[in-house]
Amino acid sequence: MDNALGEPQTILLLGGTSDIGLAIVRELLSPSARTVVLACRDRAKGEQAAAGLRHDNLVVDVMQFDGAATDTHEAFVRDVADRHGDIDLAIVAFAQLGDGEATSKDIEGAAALAHVNFTGAVTATIAVANRLRAQGHGAIVLLSSVAGERVRKANAVYGATKAGLDGFAQGLGDELAGEGVHVLVVRPGFVHSAMTAGMKAAPFATTPEKVAEVTAKGLRSGRRTVWAPGILRFVFMALRHTPGPVWRRLPLG
Ligand SMILES: NC(=O)c1ccc[n+]([C@@H]2O[C@H](COP(=O)([O-])OP(=O)(O)OC[C@H]3O[C@@H](n4cnc5c(N)ncnc54)[C@H](OP(=O)(O)O)[C@@H]3O)[C@@H](O)[C@H]2O)c1
Repeated sequence: MDNALGEPQTILLLGGTSDIGLAIVRELLSPSARTVVLACRDRAKGEQAAAGLRHDNLVVDVMQFDGAATDTHEAFVRDVADRHGDIDLAIVAFAQLGDGEATSKDIEGAAALAHVNFTGAVTATIAVANRLRAQGHGAIVLLSSVAGERVRKANAVYGATKAGLDGFAQGLGDELAGEGVHVLVVRPGFVHSAMTAGMKAAPFATTPEKVAEVTAKGLRSGRRTVWAPGILRFVFMALRHTPGPVWRRLPLG
């Protein structure tokens, strides 16, 4: 249960080694936080991340989790709750970027990417949402992306998975609004993280820490959607309505 100041005491990070996810966890860790669960497909990497968070009064549990193994998600969330009780905040951060335009030509690669980023994210979120619904409280942070706001030719499959996930999260948020469960959709632009390592930064590039600040502020003020940085909301308002022939010529990678 959140403490009297609305600070989460038990946090579940799905994609437990995500740079953005970990920055959000660090931003939200208050002295009263009791437990962080890092749900990771690579436990060794998860243990490294856990070492950076652990302190005397905080339990950091690294649990095996595969976003692609959709038939395990319900049991996984049950296991988290059996071990640690109520989940106050779940952050859905796992995703893969794929190989840009190559993925749009690769049937198997596209299917794998869509399966993890969309299907797996949807099933994991439903598993968490069902648990929070039963508790009658809690929040879910979903990492969407500006890439889904207007899908670019340079990463059509990734962008489409984010567009789909964003739409799902909005609908789920509306559904859960009367049940004490809050859903926050986070739409970052280019973020310097493991996912974008070696890539040329896009305009308005930001850091995991800045995304985390915006997310924490959004949670505290009950927002349903936040952009990181905030100016991208207005940039994409214009880009969304840019005529196709102009859009296709924009140097957006
Ligand atoms: N970086 C950006 O520019 C940017 C911009 C907008 C939105 N986002 C979104 O923000 C979220 C976090 O990204 P990030 O920048 O923090 O990237 P990141 O550090 O690469 O984190 C991605 C995470 O997803 C995990 N993952 C991938 N496939 C998985 C699977 N099948 N099962 C479980 N975990 C899996 C990775 O695990 P491993 O450690 O095992 O690889 C890693 O923990 C993603 O949803 C991303 O789409 C990122």
